[in-house]
Amino acid sequence: MLSKLQDMKKIKYIALFGAILFLLGSCDYNRRSAGWQYFDDMVTSPAYETYTKNPNFADGKTMQPPVEGTIARGMNPYPYQKTDEDRALAAKTLVNELQPTTENLERGKKEYGIYCAQCHGDKGDGQGRLYVSKKYPFPPASLLSEKMMASPDADIYHVITVGQGIMAAHGSMIKPEDRWKIAMYIKEDLQK
Ligand code: HEC
Repeated sequence: MLSKLQDMKKIKYIALFGAILFLLGSCDYNRRSAGWQYFDDMVTSPAYETYTKNPNFADGKTMQPPVEGTIARGMNPYPYQKTDEDRALAAKTLVNELQPTTENLERGKKEYGIYCAQCHGDKGDGQGRLYVSKKYPFPPASLLSEKMMASPDADIYHVITVGQGIMAAHGSMIKPEDRWKIAMYIKEDLQK
């Protein structure tokens, strides 16, 4: 009888110990991991992330340039080429129809932070972190130069769209409206 009671106690302790182990085991301090998965559900997505490798494309990249001859929603065909003459022509011809409202400038600042600041710097002085850290070897132009101070929004719009010299075109990544907002942010905030 006594030994049976002791056995019961033992079993209780073992059960308690097991429960503690189980609870501790379920703690998950790594927020980047889903922990134990009983059902896979949607935790492991079959989708490819933008910057990951992708065996389905010939160049092995997930992010692909736009298909030639197609126009993405919200994008307009751009008539000017990446030449000095076309840059001057675009700067003279294109007109920014947006107003430099707080909202537009905020949007421009955000987009500038995403697409430009890594090279041209948060202040626009050309000292972005990619250049300062020597990861990007070409000196990004200062957007605060006398020349850039004098240039209209459309000049910046053109450079964003088709690129300039060593700088790549950003037209396929940034909506026309946002290009104007970036240009306004440079003119109204960085250059002031
Ligand atoms: C990967 C680095 C990089 C990024 C990102 C980048 N640029 Fe540039 N940018 C450069 C370099 C380098 C030059 C100088 C190109 C040359 O003269 O060959 C340049 C030139 C320019 C010029 C011409 C300046 C002049 O004096 O003629 C403008 C305007 C400009 N960039 C604006 C932008 C804007 C706006 C963005 C964001 C949409 C941007 N750039 C993103 C590297 C970059």
